[in-house]
Amino acid sequence: MGPDTLRLGVNIDHVATIRNARGGDHPDPVRAAAIVAQAGADGITAHLREDRRHIRDDDIARILRATGLPLNLEMAATEEMLQIALRHRPHAACIVPEKREERTTEGGLDAAGLHDQLYPFVCRLLDADIRVSLFIAPEERQLEAALRLGAPVVEFHTGEYAHASGEQVSAELKRLSDMAALAAKNGIEPHAGHGLTYGNVQPIAAIPQIAELNIGHYLVGEAVFIGLEDAVRHMRELMDAVR
Ligand code: PXP
Repeated sequence: MGPDTLRLGVNIDHVATIRNARGGDHPDPVRAAAIVAQAGADGITAHLREDRRHIRDDDIARILRATGLPLNLEMAATEEMLQIALRHRPHAACIVPEKREERTTEGGLDAAGLHDQLYPFVCRLLDADIRVSLFIAPEERQLEAALRLGAPVVEFHTGEYAHASGEQVSAELKRLSDMAALAAKNGIEPHAGHGLTYGNVQPIAAIPQIAELNIGHYLVGEAVFIGLEDAVRHMRELMDAVR
């Protein structure tokens, strides 16, 4: 992979959401992981939430066994999740904020405000050779906090960009682009994700420092119409076209 390659991590949580709606074992997120690998994704992303509303504990081991792709495990900074990560040793752990009542991960992690709580947590993951990523808003204060915490990766929350309209879109894009450049300058690898679609992915994919995008909900939605393999392939093509 060349330095300009942009990795695609596919978040398969919502395959599990559909499965869980009926309480059975279909559709199986592990089957989705295998298809995603076939379609040219570079990684699998899954968020084990405290309430287990989509991915469940036993899915983690099954996903790890199913494909040769690296797993990026999204998790809240709790002792329970830390133990699970240490047991499974995914390639990466992305620390996300979690509120039980939220519909999805609504904002970035307050890495600045939670420094003392996060520091031992990040250290224990790094000691276990798990690549730590912090899911933060594209703000200088949060980036500085990630640097102080020693996180090798940040994932910028693109929700505000995805929901912006009019002039706000270019303002959000500039914010993401400036913060990606600042992260890279400080030796932190910037990733991005949340709310990305065929329609809004390219300006983000074109930010040269961004090394990875994590995309889930839209791809699983598209899969209903065109199949998961084609949905992932098309996203890949759109990303590759601007790098
Ligand atoms: N990255 C992180 C850290 C996430 O928590 C999520 C899911 O909220 C995503 C990426 C994928 O977002 P989406 O499902 O909107 O594509």
